[in-house]
Amino acid sequence: MSNDIFKTLSSISEDIKFFNISNTEELEKFRIQYLGSKNVINALFGEIKNVENNRKKEFGQVLNALKEEAESKFETEKEKIEDNQGAGKSLDIDLTAPVFYDSVGSRHPVSIIMNKIIKIFEKIGFTVAEEREIETDWYNFTAMNTPEDHPARDMQDTFYLKDSHTDLLRTHTSSVQARIMTTQKPPIRIIAPGRVYRNETISSRSHCQFHQVEGLYIDKNVSFSDMKQTLLYFAREMYGLETEIRLRPSYFPFTEPSAEMDVYWGLKNEDDYRITKGTGWLEILGCGMVDPNVLSNCGIDPEEYTGFAFGMGIERQAMLQYKITDIRQLFENDIRFLKQFSGAL
Ligand code: PHE
Repeated sequence: MSNDIFKTLSSISEDIKFFNISNTEELEKFRIQYLGSKNVINALFGEIKNVENNRKKEFGQVLNALKEEAESKFETEKEKIEDNQGAGKSLDIDLTAPVFYDSVGSRHPVSIIMNKIIKIFEKIGFTVAEEREIETDWYNFTAMNTPEDHPARDMQDTFYLKDSHTDLLRTHTSSVQARIMTTQKPPIRIIAPGRVYRNETISSRSHCQFHQVEGLYIDKNVSFSDMKQTLLYFAREMYGLETEIRLRPSYFPFTEPSAEMDVYWGLKNEDDYRITKGTGWLEILGCGMVDPNVLSNCGIDPEEYTGFAFGMGIERQAMLQYKITDIRQLFENDIRFLKQFSGAL
């Protein structure tokens, strides 16, 4: 018999614990049920006569504990509700006061130009590939047909990371070409934007870190004229639909034949003479047909596939576009400089 009564007590204890109180009405309901003059706990005190003598004391103790449980829950819930109401009441907001906007960030000019270039190539089916800035000698040079004793290694003053010269900071995004060609099967059509490093004296015109966008297209029957048309499309999207380009023969170890592409900038004013060294033409990028050695170094059969690649610097294009005369401004993060680009995408 008394076992049943003890069971009832423990279920009341559960009920108290899980009684949901989130407003004054619920608080009042709780008070009436567990603390009011006709509350369930008091009613149970009358049952003591039905409990065996040796458990009467225990029964009393449990009932008192229940009472305390109910009282303490009532107090804490009451305080919570009062606190909430208090917070609401004392909320002192002047809804007519003028708003002070937090200052909004802006994109870095290098990012703006990079995104513009990416968008232009995405439109014709290139996808973005990003790779590591810390490279091994193999991906940066050897795979790109630039073996150890090759004079072209002197053209790019490399930051090596170990005495053994096996790890380095990539000197160009062409390392991404090798990364992609060794892991993907043609057709390959990627652009690789990113930061590169060269150990150069920092001046208004050159820096030891800058950004490039690399392009690589490999498939069956890719020709030099495919490259020329792709680059003409790029130049016109970037510099205006009337823009003319010219390709000058050049040399890169990883392309054959190689070229440099100029866009016609014009000679309208004194600045144009200075920027184009009096020619009206501006050099924008290096390009060429992927050297068969590069393809076979990376496990692609040069008998079956051909491709073209190009690489361009971003800083110079940003400087031209925004008439920035000192490249160092692009790396100083001076907020007064950066603020001028807010609103640009
Ligand atoms: N990697 C070359 C550079 O840094 C640019 C380039 C890329 C040229 C791809 C040809 C093909 O100047």
